[in-house]
Amino acid sequence: MWYHTQAAKILGIQYPLLQGPFGGNLSSVELVAAVSNAGGLGGYGAYTLSPDEIIHVNKQIRAATDKPYNINLWVSDTDSPPAGIDDARYEQARRALTPYFDELGIPFPPKPAPFTSRFENQVEALLHLRPPVFSFVFGIPSPEVLAQCRKLGIATAGAATTPDEAMALEAAGVDLIIASGFEAGGHRPSFLAPAEASLTGTFVLLQLIREKVKTPLIAAGGIANGKGVAAAMALGAGAAQVGTAFLACDESNAPAVHRKLLFSDAAKYTTLTRAFTGRLGRGINNRIAKDMQGKDQQLFPFPLQTQLMSTLRKAAIEQQKWDMVLLWGGQVAPVSKQKC
Ligand SMILES: Cc1cc2nc3c(=O)[nH]c(=O)nc-3n(C[C@H](O)[C@H](O)[C@H](O)COP(=O)(O)O)c2cc1C
Repeated sequence: MWYHTQAAKILGIQYPLLQGPFGGNLSSVELVAAVSNAGGLGGYGAYTLSPDEIIHVNKQIRAATDKPYNINLWVSDTDSPPAGIDDARYEQARRALTPYFDELGIPFPPKPAPFTSRFENQVEALLHLRPPVFSFVFGIPSPEVLAQCRKLGIATAGAATTPDEAMALEAAGVDLIIASGFEAGGHRPSFLAPAEASLTGTFVLLQLIREKVKTPLIAAGGIANGKGVAAAMALGAGAAQVGTAFLACDESNAPAVHRKLLFSDAAKYTTLTRAFTGRLGRGINNRIAKDMQGKDQQLFPFPLQTQLMSTLRKAAIEQQKWDMVLLWGGQVAPVSKQKC
């Protein structure tokens, strides 16, 4: 059978289809369970959660499905200097972004506190919970963590945006490599070269990586239906990871307006921008993304920019100023169909 792939075997699933995990509170237990119960692999994006919250979510997932599922973390989860940003950087961002805060009638927030990585504590909780699958982006966990995963029977999957990253993941002994093309919604999870220098489309990336590594591949980016899965498999993938199309489902945790926009004309125009978080990510294009193009130096580093923009986002949603709200989504959004 076409779906009996090595990747599906490693993941312990019937069909080689993964629901891409969504960070930033957009994952839901309901969607993870729906996909896993249907024979795919549901995935929960947990990089913003505390260890206690991860324990709670894991318990809820286990109550909702007895099938394999994936918990996802970010290995590198901050670009903030240890001492936080200096006054000059704060002033620069304040000058560039104050007009939007003024327009919404809200004050520009004070200088943010430094952000310390949460990954070590999160991964400790994860190892304790032993989810069937652990996927990660923005780097490679330490050899100790990967050895623990092997010992505990947790399958590992790491994202690569270049052949170099795929080779590094293979050398580290990761079980599966997710080839993440630049069509994909959400952040570009590059870790060896800057994201802007790692922008290869899924189908080229798959072929380049296939030539360099033997580890089973999962294709991610621009896949929203069976034809996309078949095309990815023809180019050497053993499974496909679908994000945007699952984000648009009722079961996801995306607000109704976000899901609606993914089916609208606006979804034809996506862009890669650092304006909303400080790291490069793909969402539906809007006024702020356009205004801030080429002005990365005027933004806070990740995730301080997220904190800053979340204040703005909340007010913009309340005032229905959609051209100020970045809604994540991949290039494939218009291909996915809404059931009536
Ligand atoms: C809103 C959103 C949030 C995402 N967050 C994460 C994340 O936290 N970790 C991760 O590994 N991938 C994340 N992704 C990537 C998806 O898991 C998936 O690989 C990608 O969406 C596939 O491309 P597609 O959007 O073209 O289907 C996110 C994608 C979106 C759209």
